[in-house]
Amino acid sequence: MNIVITGANRGLGLGFVQHYLSKGDEVWACYRSNLDGLADIQSDKLHTVQLDVSQDFDANTLDFPESIDLLINNAGIYGPYGGQDLDSITSEAMLDVFNIDCVGPLRVVQQLKERIINAGGTIANISSKMGSSDDNGSGGTYAYRAAKAGLIIISKSMAIDLKPLGVSVITLHPGWVTTDMTHQSGLIDVQTSVAGMTDVISRVDDYELGQFVAFDGQVIPF
Ligand SMILES: NC(=O)c1ccc[n+]([C@@H]2O[C@H](COP(=O)([O-])OP(=O)(O)OC[C@H]3O[C@@H](n4cnc5c(N)ncnc54)[C@H](OP(=O)(O)O)[C@@H]3O)[C@@H](O)[C@H]2O)c1
Repeated sequence: MNIVITGANRGLGLGFVQHYLSKGDEVWACYRSNLDGLADIQSDKLHTVQLDVSQDFDANTLDFPESIDLLINNAGIYGPYGGQDLDSITSEAMLDVFNIDCVGPLRVVQQLKERIINAGGTIANISSKMGSSDDNGSGGTYAYRAAKAGLIIISKSMAIDLKPLGVSVITLHPGWVTTDMTHQSGLIDVQTSVAGMTDVISRVDDYELGQFVAFDGQVIPF
């Protein structure tokens, strides 16, 4: 399979890269500015692409394959730590996080859509349970919650719009994972989260259009 992963230089993105390379797939690993963990991987199936999802881009100027079986929109930011309550959140932080976590995946899909249609492929959008209103029992975290909620909504529209074109779309929650985003806290490690999410991706058509699914296969109300 030809697989494209954004935010692939560290954390869950790097975990996805390692998983699919170990299965023998060809991986186009996108990084914003530094190769980080990608620099340590020796594989002729690894292709690296510099891509900042906060900016508009033209996929025809980058080294992507003509046919993409799986796109994982993984790149994301949390936004200011300790500064996302009602009194401290700023317009700038709201817009920055929304631009990367919600508009970013939309940009990537708009640019790679034809290549994914060529393969009858799958799109996995990595959101967060923090974007579920149903799950919001503690308030706060305005920027991250809103951006990840927005991603769940646009991912459902993508699922509906791309279904007639033979493309499957799923929205995923990785669990609370030990990465830089959680300051290396978390309940599960990257390997456990990636093993679960890749299993869900492989069974994408078992789920209803636009469903939001956790790494353990549980459907999350949103
Ligand atoms: N860890 C968790 O518990 C958890 C829970 C729920 C959802 N998630 C979601 O899972 C995804 C991966 O998170 P993670 O835990 O692996 O976080 P992470 O370790 O902080 O990694 C984030 C990745 O996103 C990239 N990125 C950030 N801004 C970007 C941009 N403008 N363009 C391209 N790439 C960009 C980073 O690249 P740089 O190194 O260049 O900054 C990095 O590769 C995120 O969407 C996150 O919201 C994580």
